[in-house]
Parts: sequence; C-alpha cells; structure tokens
Amino acid sequence: KKKQIFKGKGILNCSISSSIFDLLIKHKIPTHYIKKINENSILAKKVEIIPIEVVLRNIAYGSLCKQTNIVPGTKLKQPLIDLYYKNDNLNDPLITSERIFLLDFIQPEELQVVKEITHNINNILKDFFLRLNLTLVDFKLEFGRDSSGKIILADEFSPDNCRLWDRNSKNGKIESLDKDRFRN
Ligand code: TMP
Repeated sequence: KKKQIFKGKGILNCSISSSIFDLLIKHKIPTHYIKKINENSILAKKVEIIPIEVVLRNIAYGSLCKQTNIVPGTKLKQPLIDLYYKNDNLNDPLITSERIFLLDFIQPEELQVVKEITHNINNILKDFFLRLNLTLVDFKLEFGRDSSGKIILADEFSPDNCRLWDRNSKNGKIESLDKDRFRN
C-alpha cells in the first residue's frame, strides 16, 4: 500500500536476518536457514510454506490496539500469539485455530509445535535484544514443512517483521527502530 526504495536496505535485512538465524540455530531452533551466500542472499532449505502468519506480542501496539482499545504500550501479562491467514486477496485476516483446522492447513498437534517454537524464539530474542538495549515489542514468523514433513521456521527475521523500541529514548517517548518509522 505504501512503496519506497531505500538503498542498501536489502543488504541490512539480509545481514540482520542471517545473524538472527545463526543465533536461533545455536539455541536448537529448527530453521530453513543454511547460510548467507552473499551480501543480499541467503541459502535456505526448500519448504512448503504453511499459509499462517504467526504474530507474538509482548507489548500491545498496532492492530491489537486498534481492534481492542488496549492502550498502546501496555505490557501484556503473558505473550499473546495471534494467527493470521496469509492470503493477499483477503488482506491477511486474523483467523481462529478452529478455522485453520477447517481449512486443513495444519494439524492441531503441529500448531502446538509452531506455538512452542514461537514462545522459545521469543525468550531467546527478548534477552538478545535487551542486551542491545532494545525492547522486542512483537514479531511475525512464518513456518514451513521440509522434505521430511518436519515443521521448521522459514522466511526472515528483520526490522520489517518485528517491532523494536530503543530503551534509551527519553521522556517515555517511543523510539521505533523498525518498519514503523516508515509506516508512520
Ligand atoms: P500488527 O500490529 O500490524 O498486527 O503487526 C504485528 C507485528 O507483525 C509487527 O511486528 C509487524 C508484523 N507484521 C508483519 O511482519 N507482516 C504483516 O503483514 C503484518 C500485518 C504484521
């Protein structure tokens, strides 16, 4: 809906995403990532993408606030996982687990695995970003099945699909270090 080109952004995203995948692999998270092959490409295992966007939220912001009236910036009592149907024609709507099972994208026990991996990733990355003085507000993941049918993390992890706030910002002002700078 909003387009712009920033020189060097692909190189940065590739670099950030590669570093994050390396970190997750060190923590035994199953991913499609094999290696970075040049400054703007990664080599990854081929997966059959599951058409669900898995969003984990630590702090209320963005669409959660628009749809619920929760005050932006409210820390959630526990991380919330929201599922979206990855379908451009339908505008990626929020979807229930029951509807996902109805559409037969994924089995209940597989969705459980997806949620467990997502919570593990959150624990790893929250700590990682905290050490960089950043708050991991929320993020979006995509999963796929490898050739053996195993569920693994796919896609990318960059400031295009997460929210990161600078903890050094003054007067309680939110200082976004992610795509919100462009969105806003
Ligand atoms: P939201 O507040 O717009 O629902 O976004 C929640 C998080 O998910 C935020 O970090 C941005 C990310 N996201 C994507 O990466 N792709 C998308 O299509 C959407 C809607 C959100």
